[in-house]
Amino acid sequence: MQYQIPKGLFDILPYGVEHTWQLSERWQYVEQIMRKVAHDYSLKEVRTPVFERTELFQRGVGETTDIVSKEMYTFLDKADRSMSLRPEGTASLMRAFIEHNLANISSFHKFYYIGPMFRYERPQAGRYRHHHQFGIEIIGNPSFEQDVETIDLLMELYRRLGLKNISLHINSVGDFETRNNYRKALQDYIRPFLPQLSVESQERFEKNPLRILDSKGEEDIPIVAKAPSILDFLSPTAKLHFDNVLHLLTLLSIPYTINPKLVRGLDYYTHTVFEVQGQSKGAQCALGGGGRYDNLLETFGGPNLSGVGFGTGIERILQSMDEEKISFPNINSPFVYIAPLEESAREMAIQMGFELRHHAIPTEIELQSKKIQKALQHANKLHASFIAILGSEEMEKKKI
Ligand code: HAM
Repeated sequence: MQYQIPKGLFDILPYGVEHTWQLSERWQYVEQIMRKVAHDYSLKEVRTPVFERTELFQRGVGETTDIVSKEMYTFLDKADRSMSLRPEGTASLMRAFIEHNLANISSFHKFYYIGPMFRYERPQAGRYRHHHQFGIEIIGNPSFEQDVETIDLLMELYRRLGLKNISLHINSVGDFETRNNYRKALQDYIRPFLPQLSVESQERFEKNPLRILDSKGEEDIPIVAKAPSILDFLSPTAKLHFDNVLHLLTLLSIPYTINPKLVRGLDYYTHTVFEVQGQSKGAQCALGGGGRYDNLLETFGGPNLSGVGFGTGIERILQSMDEEKISFPNINSPFVYIAPLEESAREMAIQMGFELRHHAIPTEIELQSKKIQKALQHANKLHASFIAILGSEEMEKKKI
């Protein structure tokens, strides 16, 4: 029997993969830039486990969301407790924040994470059952400036990676008062069309009507197009917050498009929500998305501290970089490639090579082939900066 990787999953290898975005060196490069950007904005790394108690995501992400109701990998552990592979990173971070009483250390925190997430989605290009996110979460600053700093970090990441064909879409889902008023208005508007809507949207009508705005159902799109805009229902506080965000984005020359239909697929958002879209069409075009979530920590029984953050998919970033024909540096190449020309040079090659490595100089020693042509080809393939050829003359003069 030949084993095959389950559907919707993929391997990341140094070579031999089907698509260039699966090359491990590319992943390392992108992750390096992510860590550097995070560091430049004073963020600290968090690593939480890949699975948690199922209730955490039900409570945090929302029971009626697709992510929780349809896409979670849920299983019973040996003590019959329901566990789920994390579909996203925010809920776990909130759990860790509360569990470790981090609010006692400070009332302001800036975190980032890089890691795998799991969603049982219908696999297609850009959508996998196992994907990777770089995410950030800023806790304890309710100001609009924090929203803009969060957005700026995401845009700066894409800029450093060389991505150009991207656009920032932004909306406000307001505060509790806003959503309460809007929910009623939206339901009033939709009610007469209810029988025409997709089954999915009909199901959402009572429990989570805002998600209908996000529907991709063909029968829903023309109806949703004429729906009232949430922006006309913003409470004075919510309107001020959103206007300030837009003003600061303009001041910083960060272009944006206001999209009153942008609600995102997770329930915890308040005020600002945003998505950065790439070129490809459809659901997969979101390179990254996030927003403010001022009540999430309290929902989990934690302190009354606000939050704002985003998640961006590493697969989609790498694929967009390919589409934009962005070249990648060879970050894993040896600096020196030592090629002994004859049997007697092997000892010296090894001594030299090991010595260089002990001085942290990336070095490869050719011990397979005795043919210089082959060695040169190999060195070339590895993108070595220098080739040191060891022949009898070099050995005699002890010079290379
Ligand atoms: P999300 O929009 O669900 O947000 O996911 C963030 C990003 O992860 C997406 O924009 C996309 O690039 C990538 N992504 C999601 N699902 C898949 C998939 N099946 N295959 C490939 N890539 C995928 C969140 O997860 C929130 N936790 C973001 C956040 C953090 N909001 C506030 N803080």
